[in-house]
Amino acid sequence: MKPNILIVEDEELMRSILRQLLEGEDCRVFTADSAENALAIFSTNEIAVTLTDIKMSGMDGIELLDQIKTIDDEAIVIIMTAYSSVDSAIAALRKGAYDYITKPFVNENLLQTVRNAIRTKELKSENRALRRELKRKYSFAEIIGKSEALQGVFRIIEKVADTNAGILIQGESGTGKELVARSIHFNSQRAAKPFLAVNCGALPESLLESELFGHAKGAFTGANTDKKGLFRSSDGGTLLLDEIGEMPLVLQVKLLRALQEQEVTPVGSSTAVKFDTRIIAATNKNLETEVAENRFREDLFYRLNVIEINLPPLRARREDIPLLIKHFIAKIAREQNTAEKPIEPQAMAALVNFSWQGNIRELNNAIDRAFILSGEEIDLDALPPKIKLDARNNFEMRDPQGLRPTLEEIERRYILEILKSVGDDKTAAAEILGIDLSTLYRRLKRYDEMREM
Ligand SMILES: Nc1ncnc2c1ncn2[C@@H]1O[C@H](COP(=O)(O)OP(=O)(O)OP(=O)(O)O)[C@@H](O)[C@H]1O
Ligand SMILES: [Mg+2]
Repeated sequence: MKPNILIVEDEELMRSILRQLLEGEDCRVFTADSAENALAIFSTNEIAVTLTDIKMSGMDGIELLDQIKTIDDEAIVIIMTAYSSVDSAIAALRKGAYDYITKPFVNENLLQTVRNAIRTKELKSENRALRRELKRKYSFAEIIGKSEALQGVFRIIEKVADTNAGILIQGESGTGKELVARSIHFNSQRAAKPFLAVNCGALPESLLESELFGHAKGAFTGANTDKKGLFRSSDGGTLLLDEIGEMPLVLQVKLLRALQEQEVTPVGSSTAVKFDTRIIAATNKNLETEVAENRFREDLFYRLNVIEINLPPLRARREDIPLLIKHFIAKIAREQNTAEKPIEPQAMAALVNFSWQGNIRELNNAIDRAFILSGEEIDLDALPPKIKLDARNNFEMRDPQGLRPTLEEIERRYILEILKSVGDDKTAAAEILGIDLSTLYRRLKRYDEMREM
């Protein structure tokens, strides 16, 4: 789409010269003979760049600039002024004008200024789109789950996002701890500032200390420059201390002090520096057990654990699995630039019943793999071998007396098993079974009647 340029100039001759000049560029030109008319055009069109004369009867260019900025504070306005009144152009720059041009101008200079302005506008729009994308990515819309457990997590996130309360996220590997931490950050007023994360279990003690708190130049061999450290790099934003349960006891003391004083002392320095960072801690260990066994400081535990978020394993909320599968299929299809694929009811059932040890990350990987390996439809064969095997073992065909059940009996057991696995959620079960909700209800009614016979 061509960018729109708005020319505001009350002298007719000048207006038409500017129009001809700019029409040679790759843009669409609008003109206004007064600031009042310019405002009307600006507020009803996507204007990339406004080029306005300063001296006009009625509202002048400076006031127009003010008005435009109240409509869109990222608007780009170029001011044109007579050589003799450069002072007023400077004043306009202070008020947020992008640049100024003195009259009479050299055509090529004017065009170059306008081109730069258009490019700046494009960059600003791209940035805005990126920020929006980030926000969308970590909004609740990307955390999938309708289970009571996840709904509870959403409620907590909403309540605490804008506070500074310490948060401890506990959950097995792959349950979404980092995703939740990011979502808290992007839903808080800190969203425009950095979100940083450090794995406290991945670095030896001395390195972790300078990673967190920074160091002074010469603090140790190899410290050739000052280093800020994560607490200060994430100033104004959020820092995720991941695998906090792995943090050595010596550092736990220093961390507690930093949190209490809201300041850190870089390694090798004697001056403490203030920081304003929101701390979120995460762990896949049970920190209370760690405290009971003296591997984690109790005072630090209480400091971090003002708000506790527990992410239950996927096995404990199977009703979320069909939704997650849909989400991951849509995601991989988008990434691969291809259409989504349906999933066979049998494959769906196997996925819902599997005992996911790696939780959502493992499920995501299984879906990515199946999507790539399968043909038109994702079937049992495309699933990882251990899930296939598990599905076969799960579904025992013979009854306890070794008799082969009837087809209807197999169907009945299968339906009830799926229902159980999704916590009696009929809609989810119907989806997995590949039948209408009304069909499912009819079957269930019949099973009830059969029992009463
Ligand atoms: N509720 C959810 N909805 C959608 N995607 C999810 C959900 N929970 C987790 N994921 C995805 O699963 C993957 C693992 O999540 P994440 O890295 O947040 O887990 P974790 O608990 O930090 O794992 P680990 O303990 O291994 O570091 C990520 O790709 C994440 O986007
Ligand atoms: Mg993690």
